[in-house]
Amino acid sequence: MYNLLKGKRGIIFGALDENSIAWKTAERVHEEGGQFVLTNAPIAMRMGKINELAEKTGAQVIPADATNMDDLQNLVTKAVEILGGKLDFVLHSIGMSVNVRKNIPYTESNYDFYAKGWDVSALSFHKVCQALHKNDAMNEWGSIVALTYIAAQRTFPDYNDMADNKAYLESIARSFGYFYGKDKHVRINTISQSPTPTTAGQGVKGFDGFITYAELMSPLGNATADDCANYVVTLFSDLTRKVTMQNLYHDGGFSNVGVTPEVIAHMSK
Ligand code: NAI
Repeated sequence: MYNLLKGKRGIIFGALDENSIAWKTAERVHEEGGQFVLTNAPIAMRMGKINELAEKTGAQVIPADATNMDDLQNLVTKAVEILGGKLDFVLHSIGMSVNVRKNIPYTESNYDFYAKGWDVSALSFHKVCQALHKNDAMNEWGSIVALTYIAAQRTFPDYNDMADNKAYLESIARSFGYFYGKDKHVRINTISQSPTPTTAGQGVKGFDGFITYAELMSPLGNATADDCANYVVTLFSDLTRKVTMQNLYHDGGFSNVGVTPEVIAHMSK
């Protein structure tokens, strides 16, 4: 432990269960001395185990649907109150596609489902940033991070409309990152994470084959949820103050590899 986040305060969205990337991040942030409020959609609170995590990390839980501005306003106001000052870090770890859930092929997308998934997975990031910005709730040099996937740049057919949502999410990080950077020196980045066995990850068709393929294609192997938590900690720390408006690959090298002998061996069987 390095005490990298000592004295820092924040909000962590999206811890559903112990597999969630947000869950692992909350544990690591706690170990590094950061204090935070945990939040998730009211429905996820009933299904998940967030109170267990809250107890472990000395955090309070405030429910908020990340698509609802009133909920976000309430969350931001209460978080600043509870933590006793402005915030230094925020993790957006939220994703959901109704088309994926219902196994609807991309070419036959239902547009109500499409819009819902976009609102939850992409636009919610703008809403979170806007709620923080309007309330002037972030300290100077604060850090906001969202999670994304390489399907935003390259086609992974079974990722379906989530690919479009992730492209949109990454664009918001750049656009909002510009304005928040100018106004308050707040930085905004996305982390493009390896496939990870979580509830959201395993919702993607053929996930097991997919994660094995990524493992064979990555010189360092897939980045786990624990690895991701460590990376988030660095981005929340003061050691990365000039990193903003970036989409940062955290994938064991996958994004820069064309093919590997391991994959060829598999194909030659
Ligand atoms: P997860 O299923 O544990 O987390 C997703 C979270 O989104 C859940 O806690 C869920 O309750 C929350 N959520 C859904 N609708 C919401 C709403 N309306 N308001 C507030 N919260 C809501 O899965 P995971 O994998 O930890 O997902 C976290 C992020 O990481 C997502 O953005 C996901 O797309 C991204 N990611 C995941 C990868 C994977 O393979 N698991 C790979 C790359 C990125």
